[in-house]
Order: sequence, then structure tokens, then C-alpha cells
Amino acid sequence: MTQERGPRLDRRAVVGGAAALTAVAAGGAARAAAPRRKYAIVGTGHRSRMFQDAIWGPHKDASELVAVCDLNPGRVAYTQRRSREAGAKQPRGYVHTDFERMIRETKPETIIVTTVDATHDNYIVRALEAGCDVITEKPMTTTAAKAQRIIDACQRTGRNIRVTFNYRYSPPRTQIKDLLMSGEIGDVLSVDFNWLLNTNHGADYFRRWHSNKANSGGLMVHKATHHFDLVNWWLSALPQTVWAYGKREFYTPTMAKRLGLKGAHERCRTCPEKDKCSFYLDLAADPSLKALYIDNEKYDGYFRDQCVWRPEINIEDTMNVIVKYDTGATLSYSLNACNAWEGYNIAFNGTKGRIEHSIVEQVYVAGGDMVQGGIQPGGVTTRVMPLRGAPRIIEPWTGTGGHGGGDDVMLADIFAAEGARPDKYFRVSDQNGGAYSILIGAAANRCFETGGPVNIAEMATGLRRPAYAPMPTRNDPVPMPPRKA
Ligand SMILES: NC(=O)c1ccc[n+]([C@@H]2O[C@H](COP(=O)([O-])OP(=O)(O)OC[C@H]3O[C@@H](n4cnc5c(N)ncnc54)[C@H](O)[C@@H]3O)[C@@H](O)[C@H]2O)c1
Repeated sequence: MTQERGPRLDRRAVVGGAAALTAVAAGGAARAAAPRRKYAIVGTGHRSRMFQDAIWGPHKDASELVAVCDLNPGRVAYTQRRSREAGAKQPRGYVHTDFERMIRETKPETIIVTTVDATHDNYIVRALEAGCDVITEKPMTTTAAKAQRIIDACQRTGRNIRVTFNYRYSPPRTQIKDLLMSGEIGDVLSVDFNWLLNTNHGADYFRRWHSNKANSGGLMVHKATHHFDLVNWWLSALPQTVWAYGKREFYTPTMAKRLGLKGAHERCRTCPEKDKCSFYLDLAADPSLKALYIDNEKYDGYFRDQCVWRPEINIEDTMNVIVKYDTGATLSYSLNACNAWEGYNIAFNGTKGRIEHSIVEQVYVAGGDMVQGGIQPGGVTTRVMPLRGAPRIIEPWTGTGGHGGGDDVMLADIFAAEGARPDKYFRVSDQNGGAYSILIGAAANRCFETGGPVNIAEMATGLRRPAYAPMPTRNDPVPMPPRKA
């Protein structure tokens, strides 16, 4: 690992360095005076709509969407239709093979990458080499080799990219960072973290492109990248060693039979057993899902409602991981995709006490007409327990909208016009934060094959320590706790 370098900041895009910076929310006169920043989006599916709506809505004075690009021309046209409905100037549309031509002709300053996970590296590297800044959706990429490609391209071009870890910005998760930074529980020795996916959103991974590990890296990369990033960032720590075990035991043809079905079929729309299967998804019943996927199947043959019981699915539904960090802290993590509720329980065990924190998320499927990753009313529980004495119930910081209120806070940070100010939580992530998160998942995938353990340092070179907030350390004095009553 090399020493961290200072931030290379453009007007507002990026990231990293000795002091993380976060953009200031808009302030009328200065915003009106600044020229609008030009963006292009590659990948015009469900997630890209969040960026489109931000550019055409609250951030329209500072931002302009000049072009969109996708392998599916139907979704490009759908995005252009949305721009007209939003009263915005229509972005120019390109097929994916014309990516460089799009950049030459429309001159975006920043490319937003919202394609299928395994294709991110390709667009990130090409955008950097064309002289653009890059904002990429999580996971930054899907394998260690692809992460290396991105790290090398950043070094070659002297640019940083931004990875949109929206959970860092979700107020109750930011509050956990605040509590850990305060030192109330001392330095963290270990973390117990269980993430549960329910049989709506969780099952949905087994219907879509995510069900093929070559596309998504499996749930250890695609989904757990959020969770590993949260722990890396919460602890301001670097992962060193990973052990893991994973299996697929629920979303299988055998389970279909145990549930009384004849077996797996191709997709929900044509399923002969749709009346019997409670995992049936009616894409046509949701206008968003219909417009995004059914209406555009004719262009790429992609079915968004593939059978969750198909034998060819090759991602795990049940995963257990142990991570050792450079601070000495250890993480015990599990991810299960066939649960009764969605959300998580986490506990931080520190030298002065323990934080217990839990969030219950609302029911949704990706791309549908419902809030994505919203928190259930009353769904946040946080308490701090000193080693001896009464626990303290914490009033949660709240936010509304997608991903526990994180999406809107992050978008304001990305698109605001007036430059940057220091962020005590260092929520902006660059390619190093993106890599350290996915490398845990890639290492877990390797453990599933080999039995592990995997040393993270052997997976990629040239990584820098991400800019993280200072935390209580092993060297801080710990006052003797009071005698037990
Ligand atoms: N941060 C979050 O909370 C969050 C939430 C949802 C999705 N995402 C991420 O957003 C990205 C997109 O996911 P989505 O849910 O929108 O999926 P999606 O299937 O709705 O959209 C993906 C789009 O990429 C296009 N595409 C596929 N391969 C391509 C290629 N080679 N070149 C150009 N276009 C290509 C598809 O045609 C489609 O339009 C993923 O990386 C996903 O992990 C992040």
C-alpha cells in the first residue's frame, strides 16, 4: 500500500485524500451563476432513473444530462421520453458500441455508470481514458482483476472516481458513525452483523441478471458490497483476512418441489404454475416494471421475471463471513436471502461498551413503483450499553426516501454547485473504498471455492488507504469501569 495522496478535486465531483470533502447544499445566486455541469449516463435501467430525476428535478440549475447510452435501444428511448415528461431537454441517445462517439459528440464532463455490475470496469476505464470524471454505482466492479484494472486506470490518468455508497448517507447509519467516533464505547474489538433479505426483494435477485455470478459477483459482491463498505467506513479500518462459507439451498428446483410445485420453469409470465407459486411476480401489474422491462424485451431478450427455482442459478442464498481488520477488530457477518423480514441487526463490542443497532426495511422489489430500501416507520432501534450500568436508548436520526434517506443526501452532495466543504464523516468514497469493499466479497467467493482463508493484500496492488475519519484507538486510555452494583 502506498501513502495517501491529497485530493484531486474538480468543481465538485470527487473524493479521497487527507480531508474528505462534501458538497455544500445549493445557495441561490452562486448556483445560478455557475455553468451547468454536463453528465452522460451509461445504463438506462431502474437505478439510472434516480440520477435522471435528480438532474431534471432538484439539481437542474447545476446539472444537465446531455446523453444516455445502453445496449437496449428501447430503454434509451424510454429515458428520452421521461426527459420530455420532466420538461427537460432531451438527452441524445446512443447504443453501447458508440460510447466513445457519445463522449466526442456531447462532451460530458462526468459519466454516470449504472449498467450491469460486471460491465462497470469497462465503462469506468474508457471514460477515464477519454478524460471524463466518473461516478459509478456500487459495486464498483465484480472481481479483484477488474478492480485492479480500475485502480491502474486511476493511477495512469491521475483521476479518482466516485463510488455511490448511499448507505453511508442514510441518517441513522451516519448516526452510528457519529456514535463510534464519539468514543462512547471505546475502540471496537469485534462486530456481529446479520443482514436479512426477505422473499420479496431477496427472491428478486434470483429472477434477474444478478442470478448469474458472472454478471453480479453473487450476493457477496452485488449486495454485501454495501455492508462491507459500511463496516470498513464505520470502523475506519482496512480488511486483511477473510474466511467464508456459502451455499444455495433455498432457491433450487428441489425446494420448488418441497413447496408443492412440479419444478422450475422459465419465467413468471409464461409459468404454468403461477397460481400455485407465491413467488410469482406480475411485471405487467406495475407500470414501472412494465415500461422498463416487458416493453423492451424485444430488443435484448432479457426476462426480468425468470423463475427463482431455475437449476442454472449459480449465486448463493446463505453466506457466512469472518473478516479480520488492520485495527485488530473482527467482523462476523451473515447474509441470508430467504427471510421473513428485510433489514439487519448489528452489534459493535468496544472497550467501554456495546452499540446494538437494528433497522427493518419496507417491502419492495427493485424498479417497481415503491420506495427502494425505505425504512419502516419505527424501524430503527439503537442503544448504547456501557460495560456496567444502564443502557441508553438513542433517538434515531431520520431521513425519508430511498435507502433510508441516504439517496437524497448523497444526490445533494453529488450535484450541488458550490464546491465542497469538509465532511467530518468522510462519506464520499473513491476507488479505494470501492475496492476494499468488493475485495471482501471477491475473497469470500474465493473461500466458497477453496475453503479459504484469503489474504486481501494478495488480491490487488496499488490501493491507497481511503480517507476515513479518525477513531478511538487501541492506544487510548480506558478508565476502569465502576464496580458492579
Ligand atoms: N446503490 C444502490 O442502492 C443501488 C440500487 C439498485 C441498483 N444499483 C446498481 O445500479 C446498477 C444498475 O442496476 P439496475 O437495477 O438499474 O439494473 P437494470 O437491469 O434495471 O439496468 C441495467 C441496465 O444496463 C444495461 N446494460 C447491460 N449491459 C450493458 C452494457 N454492456 N452496456 C451498456 N448497457 C448495458 C441494461 O440494458 C439495462 O438498461 C447495478 O450496478 C446495481 O448494482 C445500486
